[in-house]
Amino acid sequence: MCRPTHYAISYEINPWMSLARQAHPARARAQWQRLHDVLARALRLRIRLLPPSPGVPDLVFTANAGLVAGRTLIRSNFRYPQRQREQPLVERYFRKAGYRIVRLPARYDFEGEGDALWFGRTLVFGFRFRSDEPVHELLASHLGARVLPVELADRRFYHLDTCFCPLDERSALWYPRAFDRYGRRVIEHVVPNPIAVSQADALQFACNAIVLGRAVVAHAGLSPGLRRRLARRGFTVYPVDLSEFLKAGGAAKCLVLRLSPPP
Ligand code: ARG
Repeated sequence: MCRPTHYAISYEINPWMSLARQAHPARARAQWQRLHDVLARALRLRIRLLPPSPGVPDLVFTANAGLVAGRTLIRSNFRYPQRQREQPLVERYFRKAGYRIVRLPARYDFEGEGDALWFGRTLVFGFRFRSDEPVHELLASHLGARVLPVELADRRFYHLDTCFCPLDERSALWYPRAFDRYGRRVIEHVVPNPIAVSQADALQFACNAIVLGRAVVAHAGLSPGLRRRLARRGFTVYPVDLSEFLKAGGAAKCLVLRLSPPP
């Protein structure tokens, strides 16, 4: 995670961001701290902190730093120059921490775990708005895994982790209309029990949840109906108000990058 010390809405690179709707710094810090504490205290995760840095307000969204596999970081190549400035900071941090860094060819964009999510042993890869389709083959060869590319179709759900959320070996949350027809078929094929969320829940970033075993940490805006569906399947929802981060187009899952696989 990365503290929101320099977090702000300084540019507009997705439909959620508006220079006219600034983040409230104290509120953002309190919301981030609450998320941190739920993960660290209630769920007993060990959290490493990437040092915050001025001039890169979206650095808090560490899910986009890259994709971690063992002691290797497949580093992101951000689409927009405003976020490309994060790349050297991420790289320096991981290098110091002893990771091997894989850089993809500069002509391809890739926004890390924001667009690449494991479903069992399969990596689902979302492309179009932030990551480029050919990256799926590079990921497959670096990871030695099956990678399934799916095209994203709705600008508001520009990263895969805004519309798809693996829950366990059989189920995942998803917002079907964020995918094209082929992508929908791919997901229905790999996920035995997909749980479709309503547009209202999708717009509250229901799919941008952090899943740890049967715990689901998500923005507090989830509908009671979705909470009930998750509870019926044995999940405990930990709601955290992340409204200040929705202003940048992110919620719980975007604010963390997984460093080690689930136990
Ligand atoms: N403002 C950031 C951007 O547009 C938000 C990133 C959200 N991250 C995510 N993994 N969905 O790049």
